[in-house]
Amino acid sequence: MRSRRGRRRSRYYLWLLLATLILIARTPVAADMARRWLPLVKDGIHDPKSPALRLLQQPGEALSRLPADVAGSQVNWTAALEQGRINPRTNILPETKIRVLDTDILLNLRGGTPIVRFPHRQHTVWLDCGNCHEQLFKSKAGANKFSMQLILQGEQCGVCHGAVAFPLTQCGRCHNTARDKPLPAAAVRGS
Ligand code: HEC
Ligand code: HEC
Ligand code: HEC
Repeated sequence: MRSRRGRRRSRYYLWLLLATLILIARTPVAADMARRWLPLVKDGIHDPKSPALRLLQQPGEALSRLPADVAGSQVNWTAALEQGRINPRTNILPETKIRVLDTDILLNLRGGTPIVRFPHRQHTVWLDCGNCHEQLFKSKAGANKFSMQLILQGEQCGVCHGAVAFPLTQCGRCHNTARDKPLPAAAVRGS
């Protein structure tokens, strides 16, 4: 059991972390640095001495042509796919079944920040059901207990967001549905 003081302290750190993230996301410096990518010789991933580097396309050349985002990879990959600007292969083996699900789930129904509308379609155009179900999330509305603190620690939505999908500083892309307006009727109510 954690003491009440321990819980209070961890809640304090959560708010401190959130406040810092919001500050970083809003700072004009972050906007100034937008849309600049390190060349391959400086990215710390490729061997700068490798003669093969000349054969590769520079990230800036490829990514600057795609819809912009202000954070993370500076590309809005959802928009890039929806606008047909990229056309990634869905499968390698012909027998792989591609399943796209078009339902939205409303999460954070009881919180103070805007509701989180989780879109299945924008996820299943990239991912398989098995990437999330049943290990990470149970496929039953309201069956999962979400927590922003766990998400910030890289669990739940944070397994991908902040790692391979748009970062957690983009609060409004998840907290995207106003609480004081009629809720979207087509969406399923989660927790
Ligand atoms: C990847 C999606 C995602 C992003 C990005 C995200 N959140 Fe959340 N957030 C959630 C989910 C899901 C919950 C619901 C957790 C629950 O039910 O308590 C939540 C809950 C919360 C809560 C607790 C409930 C409430 O509304 O009072 C706060 C506070 C919060 N988020 C703030 C933020 C802030 C500030 C940011 C940006 C720095 C942010 N979130 C970014 C998904 C996200
Ligand atoms: C990126 C993660 C992710 C992927 C991929 C995903 N889901 Fe889900 N799914 C969720 C979350 C989050 C919920 C909400 C659970 C809750 O409310 O606690 C959910 C809920 C559900 C539900 C219950 C809600 C309802 O509409 O009745 C079903 C059924 C479901 N998913 C099926 C699927 C199927 C089928 C696929 C593949 C085509 C899939 N999911 C892919 C995250 C995912
Ligand atoms: C298995 C990886 C994975 C998990 C887990 C995951 N996401 Fe995503 N999410 C993605 C990817 C990939 C995209 C599309 C690429 C991008 O936008 O970066 C995406 C896109 C989204 C979008 C669409 C944004 C737009 O502009 O249309 C929202 C909203 C979102 N995620 C919220 C959530 C929430 C809330 C959770 C947790 C309940 C969650 N995601 C869990 C990988 C994931």
